[in-house]
Amino acid sequence: MKVAVVGGGKIGEAVAQSLALSEDVSNVFVTRRTARSGPSTLKKLQFSTDNLRAASEADVIIIAVKAGDAKHVLGEISAASSGKIVISLMAAISIKRIQESLPKAKVVRSMPNIAATIGEAITAYSLGNGLDEKDAKRVRFVLGCFGDSIEVPESLMNAVTALSGSGPAYIAVLIEAMVSAGLKVGIPRDVSFKLVTKTLTGTADLLSKKGMHPAELRDLVTTPAGTTIAGIYELEKGSLRTIMMNAVEAATQAAEKVAKKFEDETPR
Ligand SMILES: NC(=O)c1ccc[n+]([C@@H]2O[C@H](COP(=O)([O-])OP(=O)(O)OC[C@H]3O[C@@H](n4cnc5c(N)ncnc54)[C@H](OP(=O)(O)O)[C@@H]3O)[C@@H](O)[C@H]2O)c1
Repeated sequence: MKVAVVGGGKIGEAVAQSLALSEDVSNVFVTRRTARSGPSTLKKLQFSTDNLRAASEADVIIIAVKAGDAKHVLGEISAASSGKIVISLMAAISIKRIQESLPKAKVVRSMPNIAATIGEAITAYSLGNGLDEKDAKRVRFVLGCFGDSIEVPESLMNAVTALSGSGPAYIAVLIEAMVSAGLKVGIPRDVSFKLVTKTLTGTADLLSKKGMHPAELRDLVTTPAGTTIAGIYELEKGSLRTIMMNAVEAATQAAEKVAKKFEDETPR
């Protein structure tokens, strides 16, 4: 399979690098506005500024530019997108809007996160009209090259952007806070960092692999009058859950605002 990634920025390049590692992907054509200097370390990756050529040569097209650049880029690749799967990674732009620019394409809207860099993203996606089960399988294959995927109704995309698209930033803040907490109780920074990051990935893996509810795991390690309940008491006093809910709600509202601005300001 040949894949074009139009917009090789932070997320586009992360996705392209992971795609290039797949045995079933023969070429990844990555475009940018400005030319990239120096050869790529992976032979399958080819960089250019020619969107139309990249889209023409690809079987599947991924769009990873900012919303403000979308109209121009979609206009450029329209002629080459006929009958092809086009997967948008762009926040704020609806399937309907993309389909208007690419009337003959099979449009998919998706939201990965930056863990795509190491093939560990979670990507939520919504399929547009005109994709059959074979196309859906192809979409899941492409998304699977940079992590796991889950289908959601398009109406949830702003909320998904706020939860798992922005999620790595929240987790990074949480890790920073826990590393600082380790320092506060006398653990050296590097030791604290290792303890915290492995605790985070280990807990997440345990919950998902065992299909365990978080409350079940919490109860498992919380003994009466023990150390864990002393820590949890302070977390509850500081309203950690409320803060997290407020943060994701605020980010969802921000995503909705950006989507509305795009709808209002971008001519059809
Ligand atoms: N970053 C994330 O974690 C993340 C996660 C999920 C979804 N997204 C979505 O992905 C999109 C890109 O985000 P980003 O953070 O990766 O932004 P970014 O780092 O600014 O990347 C955007 C890329 O698009 C390229 N570009 C702009 N106009 C172009 C054109 N006419 N032809 C070809 N390439 C063009 C830019 O090229 P130059 O470098 O030459 O300017 C740049 O490499 C956004 O819509 C965002 O909502 C991002």
